[in-house]
Amino acid sequence: MLKADNLSKVFNIHILGDKVIEGCENISFHVSKGEFLGLAGPSGAGKSTILKCIYRTYLATGGDIWYDSILYGQVNLATIADPMVIGIRHKEIGYVSQFLKVIPRVSAIDVVAEPLLTRNGASANEARKKAGELLERLNIPARLLDAYPATFSGGEQQRVNIARAVIWKPRLLLLDEPTASLDRESVSIVVELLREMKEQGTSMIGIFHDNELMESITDRVYRVNPEISDVG
Ligand SMILES: Nc1ncnc2c1ncn2[C@@H]1O[C@H](COP(=O)(O)OP(=O)(O)OP(=O)(O)O)[C@@H](O)[C@H]1O
Ligand SMILES: [Mg+2]
Repeated sequence: MLKADNLSKVFNIHILGDKVIEGCENISFHVSKGEFLGLAGPSGAGKSTILKCIYRTYLATGGDIWYDSILYGQVNLATIADPMVIGIRHKEIGYVSQFLKVIPRVSAIDVVAEPLLTRNGASANEARKKAGELLERLNIPARLLDAYPATFSGGEQQRVNIARAVIWKPRLLLLDEPTASLDRESVSIVVELLREMKEQGTSMIGIFHDNELMESITDRVYRVNPEISDVG
């Protein structure tokens, strides 16, 4: 379904006199339909950069990212035009960033219901009902459903973030440390959710700071630049 072939990303920092910073280099892996791939490696190795190149937050500077799209057939995410990227983000690929990008003055329940309205054509009632059920499952207290996530704790925000990404059941889900700020109980709820997604055929690429957790939920782990020593 997705194949990264010699993917590289370098950043040119103009204000530093065109200083070049390596984001990731010579990354090659593949993910099959329904497979869960873990990305491991020391801090700064380029794990988040790889997910951002796939989601096209970053434009790759070398190599290819072949993706079998439902909408467009086989495409190279490293080179396709922005409107196709938007279509694919809308219908096919979900992304859980490490931190919630808070949408101002939208309540938690509506933040989570929104993808169902815009992507799956659900009615407002149906979307809010499903969003409420999912947030409840993720242990978000009922009194917070109509509150603004901007005021939530880090762990609550992260659960809203996860709910928003999984509710519309993307066919490929990118996860950047989705459980980093969660307590043990929330972690197991999220793990159970991800297992269900996988059973329903979602492919996933995930970064987890907890190696044991990553080994237990992924099918395979790709190590990014293992030669870089981890300096924390
Ligand atoms: N927008 C950017 N501009 C400049 N450099 C960047 C940018 N994004 C990432 N980098 C650099 O790319 C390298 C890889 O960063 P990245 O965030 O991908 O690492 P990571 O493996 O996810 O690390 P961590 O485990 O700490 O999250 C780092 O040296 C980082 O400074
Ligand atoms: Mg990272």
